[in-house]
Amino acid sequence: MKVLVTGASGALGRAVLPRLREDGFVVRAMSRRPHGDQAAEWVTGDLATGEGLPDAVAGVAAVLHLASTPGGGRRTHQVDVLGTRRLAVAAGRAGVGHLLYVSIVGVDRVPFPYYRHKLAAERVVAAGPVPWSVLRATQFHPFLDDLLALAGRLGPVIGDRAVLAQPVDAGEVAARLSGRLAAGPLEGIEEYGGPQALRFDAAVEAWRTARGSRRPLLPVRVPGRLGRALRSGALTTRAAPTGTRSWADHLADTYGGTGRR
Ligand SMILES: NC(=O)c1ccc[n+]([C@@H]2O[C@H](COP(=O)([O-])OP(=O)(O)OC[C@H]3O[C@@H](n4cnc5c(N)ncnc54)[C@H](OP(=O)(O)O)[C@@H]3O)[C@@H](O)[C@H]2O)c1
Repeated sequence: MKVLVTGASGALGRAVLPRLREDGFVVRAMSRRPHGDQAAEWVTGDLATGEGLPDAVAGVAAVLHLASTPGGGRRTHQVDVLGTRRLAVAAGRAGVGHLLYVSIVGVDRVPFPYYRHKLAAERVVAAGPVPWSVLRATQFHPFLDDLLALAGRLGPVIGDRAVLAQPVDAGEVAARLSGRLAAGPLEGIEEYGGPQALRFDAAVEAWRTARGSRRPLLPVRVPGRLGRALRSGALTTRAAPTGTRSWADHLADTYGGTGRR
């Protein structure tokens, strides 16, 4: 089966491409820029303008839609919402049999501007002309890792110690997506998270130990509805099965005993 992967150059895309090939799919990979990787057929396409989309979807059985512009502003609306609509329309015209969209656990509960756009894009996919599925994943391990580095850039790691996260391995998300492509359209939404829900302070403690860092946690309570959502577990899911690779596994693989990536 031939599959178009949008966002193929991104963090998840880089895990998805080898997984799909191993599972026997023929992969066409989309990016705004030309790529030279011989293992996939690369095409150029831009969701913000629609350029290249008709050629990108021609002759594929399914589209795995990963491309996104986080941020939450007008650019996100243009790429994630309107771009998803452009993609769905082009895929419908080309007779594509399955549009699988990757979203985020909590888009319906956490009032981040980016999540509002992701939720709108889910609705575009569900209302569009192509049989569909949505997989909502929790945060990938490197995303949390980068977030903690950012939160600690001034010295102490600043954050709300009671926020709950459930980080997941991108390779395991890729395997789950491959399984969904093989199974066909769900006409619904499924969720997928890592093996454990972690409080922010526990995630920071493990991260500091792995990095040999002495940075203290400077607790700051996230106010209002956003804080209540984040502390009540809106970024986590009870869905089973979960991934098996834990935050501790990620830290051991990334930092080993050296404290460095
Ligand atoms: N990161 C996480 O922790 C996480 C967790 C759950 C769900 N997700 C979701 O998983 C998906 C992939 O995330 P990621 O972390 O892999 O993203 P990423 O690393 O930021 O990659 C984003 C991709 O989007 C493509 N893109 C951006 N603007 C585009 C445009 N105008 N036209 C076509 N392509 C465009 C980029 O391709 P080029 O630059 O090559 O054009 C890039 O490959 C996203 O939908 C995200 O919401 C992410």
